[in-house]
Amino acid sequence: LANDGYRLWLQYAPIEKSDLAEGYKQQLQQIYLSNTSATMQVIQDELDLALGKMLALSPRYSSSNNSSTAPGLIIASPSQRPSLNEMITSEEYAALGEEGYLLRTISNGKKTQILITGNTDIALLYGTYELLRKLQTHSSLEKINLQSSPKTAIRVLNHWDNPDRTVERGYAGASIWDWHRLPDYIHPQYLDYARANASIGINGTVLTNVNANAQVLTPYFLRKVAKLAEVFRPYGIKVYLTARFSAPMELGGLSTADPTQPEVQEWWDNKVNEIYEYIPDFGGFLVKADSEGQPGPQNYDRSQAQGANMLAQALKAHQGIVMWRAFVYTNETPDDRAKQAYNEFKPLDGDFDDNVIVQVKNGAIDFQPREPFHPMFGAMPQTPLMMEFQITQEYLGQGTHLVYLAPMYEEVLDTDTYAEGPGTTVAGIIEGRQSGSLLTGMAGVSNIGTDRNWTGHLFGQANWYAFGKLAWDPSLSSEEIAEEWSQMTFTNDPSSTETITRIMMLSHEAAVNYMTPLGLHHIMGWSHHYGPGPWVTDKHRDDWTSTYYHQADRLGIGFDRTVKGSNALGQYAPEIQKLYGNPATCPEKYLLWFHHLPWEYVMPSGRSLWEEIALHYQKGVDQSREMLYAWQSLSTEIDPARYHQVESFLRIQEKEAIWWKDACLLYFQQFSQRPFPKEVEKPE
Ligand code: GCU
Repeated sequence: LANDGYRLWLQYAPIEKSDLAEGYKQQLQQIYLSNTSATMQVIQDELDLALGKMLALSPRYSSSNNSSTAPGLIIASPSQRPSLNEMITSEEYAALGEEGYLLRTISNGKKTQILITGNTDIALLYGTYELLRKLQTHSSLEKINLQSSPKTAIRVLNHWDNPDRTVERGYAGASIWDWHRLPDYIHPQYLDYARANASIGINGTVLTNVNANAQVLTPYFLRKVAKLAEVFRPYGIKVYLTARFSAPMELGGLSTADPTQPEVQEWWDNKVNEIYEYIPDFGGFLVKADSEGQPGPQNYDRSQAQGANMLAQALKAHQGIVMWRAFVYTNETPDDRAKQAYNEFKPLDGDFDDNVIVQVKNGAIDFQPREPFHPMFGAMPQTPLMMEFQITQEYLGQGTHLVYLAPMYEEVLDTDTYAEGPGTTVAGIIEGRQSGSLLTGMAGVSNIGTDRNWTGHLFGQANWYAFGKLAWDPSLSSEEIAEEWSQMTFTNDPSSTETITRIMMLSHEAAVNYMTPLGLHHIMGWSHHYGPGPWVTDKHRDDWTSTYYHQADRLGIGFDRTVKGSNALGQYAPEIQKLYGNPATCPEKYLLWFHHLPWEYVMPSGRSLWEEIALHYQKGVDQSREMLYAWQSLSTEIDPARYHQVESFLRIQEKEAIWWKDACLLYFQQFSQRPFPKEVEKPE
């Protein structure tokens, strides 16, 4: 059968270099593992599968602490193997926390042993995947000394999956949750989903769309959800659901959902108790309120904190949490959409209950190809804030363009907010360094569907992978993640790895260049958000209108968010205001996000703004071509099925990069009334 990409980064390709394979085999043929829980069974199954495929090895397991043959690999917590306490100090164990693991090469007389240890079985599972990653990337096992604990607590996928199996902004087929056949039929894909997530440290999944109706909270669904929770439990993955704010009315028949009304609180208390009867370790709720038609506390003149705290109170006794989204905006105010969430939430800093975490998109508009960081990061020191990234590529070529998103995640995470002086990075804030809360997290809006390769575009898998890795450790380098993913997914050949990594690292900047260079944003096709649409107007809503965002006219282009304009810039720390407030010092990539400038404005390159815009669009086209040619150089290195699919998609991407360039430049030229620079290819 052709390699259809189903196996994701867990390909476990046979290791053909015989020296390497021989060394691994010697090391791993005898394994200490005490198979006492479902998670330990998962570890053993994964080792059997992986070592069988990579090395044709069937390892022997033993859990005897006095075995005569010393095992080459020990996978144990100190409670399973008390002698570990002589080797690893209690401080070291304490530092690992619940999920952290230690992976170490130790010498026992003449024999070298590999040790995977941690405080829980889940930690051992994470450590096992790390060891398997070493094998998959053909790394040496000789001197490993790795201690790794997640820097955020809640690492969660947000499925925008509806009960009817459509997926909002999903480009990879239908929802993988086969509600109709649950709870009786367990689709094997659920297990592979759990394996893939556990292998990158994802420990939660919100199964339902933020816009889903309240039916997901009925017993009919809860029975099905309970089954999924049971499947995921051994992999350390908790389930969460979206909670529609008006559920007490829709399901409970109440006349109101006002959070201050005792009967509303009581309804939620009872509902939550019921959920925990089905799912004893239920994670909690994700809520979209007062946004894009969803009901919320504003309907009753109550604050976002009052709404969130009501749910939090119901969940508290069960250790459940509320992830309350900050994506709150309306077209009923003339205020810049970029300012609205901050205005709504900032005054509530400190008002949220302990088990509420506010989930903030990376930027203040909506998952654009590039946005400056959301001004709420740094502005709410007393409130735990979690990051919401989009893994699905709603505004980024959807399931057809190759856009590796990790450089974009990294750019946001590494940005200094200056909230508490230099060094207050967005990553630091979501790691809880500002709020001091242990409730920390990162959410990724999933790109997974029923397509055989899970994500529609094979390289969408890399975005899922990178999300998990960065949620575990936001300081990782996107380039290293790309390299590792490419080795595990395609090949260990160094030159191919270099080429694939180069394509990936080029791809986000390429998309920004051919879609929305220099800070332009929200100029996609109306509603579906695919392809160019700078001309789009929406009769009903300015804030869904492209012309509102680019503001192009005979004099210039860009959204003035300085004090002279909407002053969205005023929501950032003074250092940022100063830097971004002056077009001469504002990073070029955010220029038209914050400034409206004349077409003849002189850019640092010495060219006019118009010329720079045109050249950026051209550059995006050139880069998409470069990606295609680089991939074509791999035609003999990648298996035909995966090679051809990616190649076809890259051809579409090149064609559509040209479409973007032509559409945007011809549209903007009506205003600029200037010729294209000679380097720009003439529109067809
Ligand atoms: C975007 C997207 C919607 C989605 C919304 C959200 O606006 O287009 O489909 O529901 O984000 O994040 O809630």
